Formats: sequence, structure tokens, C-alpha cells
Amino acid sequence: MVIKVAINGYGTIGKRVADAVDAQDDMEIVGVTKTRPAFGCDLAVRKGYPIYCTYDDSDKIAAFASAGYECHGGLTDLLEVADIVIDCSPGKVGASNLDKYQSAGVKWIFQGGEKHAMTGMSYTSSANHAENLNADGTRVVSCNTTGLSRTLVPLYNHCGKLSVECTMIRRAADPGDSSKGPINAIKPVLKVPSHHGPDVMTVKPEISINSMAVAVPTTIMHVHVIVAQLPDGHGLTTESVIDMWSKQPRIILMDGGETGITTTAEVMEYARDIGRKWGDLHEIFVWRDGVKLEGNTLYYFQAIHQESDVIPENVDAIRALMGTESDWLASVAKTDQSIAKYNNIL
Ligand SMILES: NC(=O)c1ccc[n+]([C@@H]2O[C@H](COP(=O)([O-])OP(=O)(O)OC[C@H]3O[C@@H](n4cnc5c(N)ncnc54)[C@H](OP(=O)(O)O)[C@@H]3O)[C@@H](O)[C@H]2O)c1
Repeated sequence: MVIKVAINGYGTIGKRVADAVDAQDDMEIVGVTKTRPAFGCDLAVRKGYPIYCTYDDSDKIAAFASAGYECHGGLTDLLEVADIVIDCSPGKVGASNLDKYQSAGVKWIFQGGEKHAMTGMSYTSSANHAENLNADGTRVVSCNTTGLSRTLVPLYNHCGKLSVECTMIRRAADPGDSSKGPINAIKPVLKVPSHHGPDVMTVKPEISINSMAVAVPTTIMHVHVIVAQLPDGHGLTTESVIDMWSKQPRIILMDGGETGITTTAEVMEYARDIGRKWGDLHEIFVWRDGVKLEGNTLYYFQAIHQESDVIPENVDAIRALMGTESDWLASVAKTDQSIAKYNNIL
């Protein structure tokens, strides 16, 4: 069975998810939406993805032809030929699309900009693939929550109890976004605790976690500063924690002192060097020499490429919802190998 996938919102996340889906042999892109014939349409044409209009209004659909793009119809037409839709519209916009997906009878996946309360179900492969099997819809959690889950879920699985405090040092804007800031300030998120840490509990409620956040003038990555309290008798050492993470998918561990990769700038340069499309890094990056377990307290830093760590998670979420792969590790391996082959980086 080849799963027919629609992308509603062909922006930063949507264009990446489209290519990750296109790389898989068990799914295909049946169309992507644009609100109007502007930036992004040329890319869709080059990739061979049918363009649909975000809206069903005939004048908005006709505007594409006037600008020289073939438009195959409105969102309703796209949903008719899809098994599942990946909603990659801007945060908080997606909620208004839910009724359309439900009336069309397609499965749906929202992104981290939507609230868990709206979807009632959230997803990240390492935490709750099994719970999402055959569900009607879900929400792939945000880039920060995805990154936190990658290191915290295996720790929780080992310890059976975990209490976490973390500080999110957040990029101000994506590189292609000229409308946001700050450009010369550090901006604390004054809603304390911030939503980032507690959002982990939407996929792994057993982990007790709080966070604070600041936005800083950088566009390339987030950094998490994490302090985790392990229970008595955890039986771990700094080395065994590192070893545990090195066996998990989608975590890169490197020694900053040895490699010279000591900042997010070098992490991103590394992603470009290894030929990742758009310079993306689907894995999270943990500095091995920044990990330290003292008694029951574990300290570490990790860097998150905000535009891309959620991309392969969307592919795995499709398999969960369609019920075509029940083993999260098997899905993750298939997703990652297919993307690597597609990008010629094996
Ligand atoms: N960027 C990140 O770092 C990041 C990381 C993880 C998760 N997310 C989440 O992913 C989602 C998408 O974010 P993004 O960064 O990709 O946003 P984005 O770059 O602004 O792209 C959103 C796209 O949605 C389209 N759109 C606008 N209104 C729409 C509607 N009513 N229905 C469908 N599509 C609509 C826009 O299309 P046109 O260009 O055609 O006008 C735009 O291309 C959000 O929930 C966000 O929180 C973002």
C-alpha cells in the first residue's frame, strides 16, 4: 500500500516534510497547498508536487493560472485524493482546518504550533508511537519537545522516575524569516514555567518537567540547558548515560574539545559538510564533554535544529496513524535510511 499524503502549508516545515515523504517507498505526495501564487510555488513545480490552493474560492484558484502555475483545485479537491494530510500551516491556524479534515474523512497530523488540547493526541516516535497506532489524528510535538524527548525518554525508561528542570535558549527566528526578533536583546519568556518542558508530558506524562525560556539573537539553533534528578539506585554513570544515548536513533554525541564543534555555528557547519539538504540536522546534538552525572543530578546541554528535527517524526507519525508499522524503531530506521539515500548521503 502506498499512502497518499497531502501537505497543507508549504512553508518552512511543509517543504521539508514533503521531501522526507517523497523519499519513502511506502508513501507519496499527492499535492501541496499555497495560499497564493508566490514564493514556494517554483520549488513545488521543480519537485513535481501538484499545487493546490489553500482555499476553495474559484478566484483564488484562478490566480495561480494567471501567474503561470498549474493549480489542481482547492483544499477540498486535494483532500479527496489523500489518505492523510500533514497540516504545516502557521501555528494556531491549523485548528481552523480540523473540521475540513474530519468532514473529508482523511487522517490528519498537526504541528507543534497547535495545542495538545485541540488534537487530544500528540506524537514523538521515541515516546508514544504505539499509542498513536490507527488514531484518526495527532500532533507532532514542537522541535523543542521532540529534542527533549529524545534524551529524556530513554533516561526515564531506565530509571522509572525522572524530575527535570531545563532552560531553553531559543533562536529568535528561522533564517528565512525577516519579521521577528529580537536582533539585539535577550528576551525572557515571562510566562513561568514556559510551555516547552511541560509539553513533554503530552507524550510522556510520567516525566516530571518544568522549563524557563529566553529568546536570543540567533537564527540557527536552540540550545537546552538541562538538569535532571534521577532516583536513588539509578545505577548510572556519566559514561553509561552517554552510552545509552549513543544507542538511540537521532542523537549525535560529539566531544566539543576534540572536534572543535563548541558552538551551534559549528554544529550547523557540520550539517552542511555532510551534505544535508538545506543544511538540516534531523538529529539532536549533545556535547559529550558537557554531560556530567554527580550523585543523582545529571547536567547536560543539547542543540536542536528547529527547522528539521520534527521532519522525520512526521513520516513515522504517518505510519503510526495508518497502522502500517507498529515498531517505532523499525519505522525510524526506514525513514532515516530512505532520507539518506534520497539525499545521496549514505
Ligand atoms: N519553523 C520552525 O522552526 C518550526 C519547528 C517545529 C514546528 N513548527 C511548527 O510547524 C508549523 C508550521 O510552521 P512553519 O515554520 O513551517 O511556518 P511557515 O514557514 O510560516 O509556513 C506556513 C505555511 O502555511 C501556509 N498557510 C498560511 N495560512 C494557511 C492556512 N490557513 N492553511 C494552510 N496553510 C496556510 C503559508 O503559505 P503561503 O506561503 O502559501 O502563504 C506558509 O507557507 C507551526 O505549527 C509551527 O509552530 C515550526
